[in-house]
Amino acid sequence: MECPQKRETPTGSSPAGMFDRFAPEYDEGFHTNRVGTFMRQVWGSILETHARPGDRLLDVGCGTGEDAIRLAGHGCQVHCVDISPNMISIAREKAAHAGVGPAVTFECSSFEDPSLASKSLFDGVYSGFGSLNFTADLANVLANLRQKVREHGWLIAMVSNTASHWDILTRLLTGKPGWAFDRIRGVPTEITSQHGSSGIRFFSRRFFLDTADEAGFSVLFSRPLGCLIPPAYLAETPLGSSIWLRMADRIERITHKLPVLRSSGDFLVVGLGRHTPEP
Ligand SMILES: C[S@@+](CC[C@H](N)C(=O)[O-])C[C@H]1O[C@@H](n2cnc3c(N)ncnc32)[C@H](O)[C@@H]1O
Repeated sequence: MECPQKRETPTGSSPAGMFDRFAPEYDEGFHTNRVGTFMRQVWGSILETHARPGDRLLDVGCGTGEDAIRLAGHGCQVHCVDISPNMISIAREKAAHAGVGPAVTFECSSFEDPSLASKSLFDGVYSGFGSLNFTADLANVLANLRQKVREHGWLIAMVSNTASHWDILTRLLTGKPGWAFDRIRGVPTEITSQHGSSGIRFFSRRFFLDTADEAGFSVLFSRPLGCLIPPAYLAETPLGSSIWLRMADRIERITHKLPVLRSSGDFLVVGLGRHTPEP
């Protein structure tokens, strides 16, 4: 499948190649890792509390389509966009296999492309597990996505946060202080894995909310995900036990408005509303 190559990346290197190579193994990390499975479940239930059966939704950076398949099973119509052709192929196969094929459509393109999803309007737009962190121009992407949301519709984004005490501590302990400080400061940096590397930029809660405000969204809610819930690489420690995960999730929900806790965690989940018509 041909797909346009994205240029506007935080450090200039495109994520398409890296995610193409990662695609065949991507789900394994979620299905075999207790933390990954749990996080996917929490994120999916957040989406389900906002999406109503019959809603038309846009999945931005859909990956292998886990959320789209879940929401199609919930009665929604989902249009999925991703820059990686291999991610799209796997997502399409999974949707057919899950019996929700007719409710899910696919488009291989960059979410930075303003002609994305042509002129369609959606009841809700969502983006899970840090897809939006792969843009160098969040302001532009949010402004474009706002055009895709109908009035009184919503956008819910799960983005990688600058203030991840887990990751920063781990990077410091493993001798990568430069990377850790780039993450805290939100400067463009490079993630490298066996699948290749890509530019990425982490967002602080304040930066994300201010950028969303400038793009014309109002804030419906914001909460950390992964403040007490540990990252996937700690799944085999006692912090990955199901008792701790359930307790951590409950505490995160109760404490999400406390000033320090609301801003720290591996991910932030931000709900935005489009309440005003075009100026
Ligand atoms: C970490 S994965 C998250 C995938 C999925 N949302 C999930 O919940 O598992 C990031 C995804 O964003 C996609 N992506 C990155 N930059 C993109 C862009 N400019 N346009 C569309 N998709 C992009 C990647 O190909 C990858 O599938």
